[in-house]
Amino acid sequence: MHILGVDVGGSGIKGAIVDTETGEFVGERHRIATPKPATPEAVAAVIAQLVNHFNWEGPVGCGFPASIQHGVARTAANLSSSFIGANIDALFSDVTKCSCFNLNDADAAGIAEMNFGGGVGQSGVVLLITIGTGLGTAFFSDGVLLPNTELGHLYLPNGKKGEHFASDAVRKSEDLGWKSWGKRFDKYLQQMEALFWPDLIILGGGASKKFDKFKHQISINTPVKPAELLNQAGIVGAALHAHSKSSQSVQSKG
Ligand code: BGC
Repeated sequence: MHILGVDVGGSGIKGAIVDTETGEFVGERHRIATPKPATPEAVAAVIAQLVNHFNWEGPVGCGFPASIQHGVARTAANLSSSFIGANIDALFSDVTKCSCFNLNDADAAGIAEMNFGGGVGQSGVVLLITIGTGLGTAFFSDGVLLPNTELGHLYLPNGKKGEHFASDAVRKSEDLGWKSWGKRFDKYLQQMEALFWPDLIILGGGASKKFDKFKHQISINTPVKPAELLNQAGIVGAALHAHSKSSQSVQSKG
């Protein structure tokens, strides 16, 4: 089946039609700059532009840098605070005239990796961490997602929030070399290991492409590897989410 997948980020909103059987894009990806301020209405207008661009009529899946509980945004760390409490499933569906299913962006990337990337066939506890403007997390136990874990906001023993200490945005803004940033990120990983004991950690997001530059700073025993789907993961996972949600709603109607 084909589904329009969308990844909403701080600087760009990217969409592509995804083949949910293979995880491949059907045609080109399209990117539109994130509106400023990124209010729910402004973002809805961009999603509608993407729907028009692709001449799309089916379900739409959207990954967001926020906790999305049953279609309602509960947090908005890197978006307009007017998202908090907004039923964005309802708003986007109304504006685009397509059935829209939203979820957290790290959860989307995790779903894609578990289906088509480094998590395929992995049992036990898998933690995916996306390293970007923030730190996003997705937890799986025997392939089943525990949605909306916001562990980038976990406080480290040094009193700092994980994502304010070791995100890619912090690496850039503090002009840290890969070695010193890697040491910071290792402190975050140490905490994840001590509290959750995952069997595998997969790293996604921009910095994961540079894994070779910081892998020697990682001291934990849990196996850690970079994501395989790179930039595509968020869009592919959003499409898979919409696929499963739209088939559930068809079943419940039938
Ligand atoms: C947000 C998460 C998101 C992560 C990565 C964090 O600031 O709170 O919801 O998954 O950034 O975008």
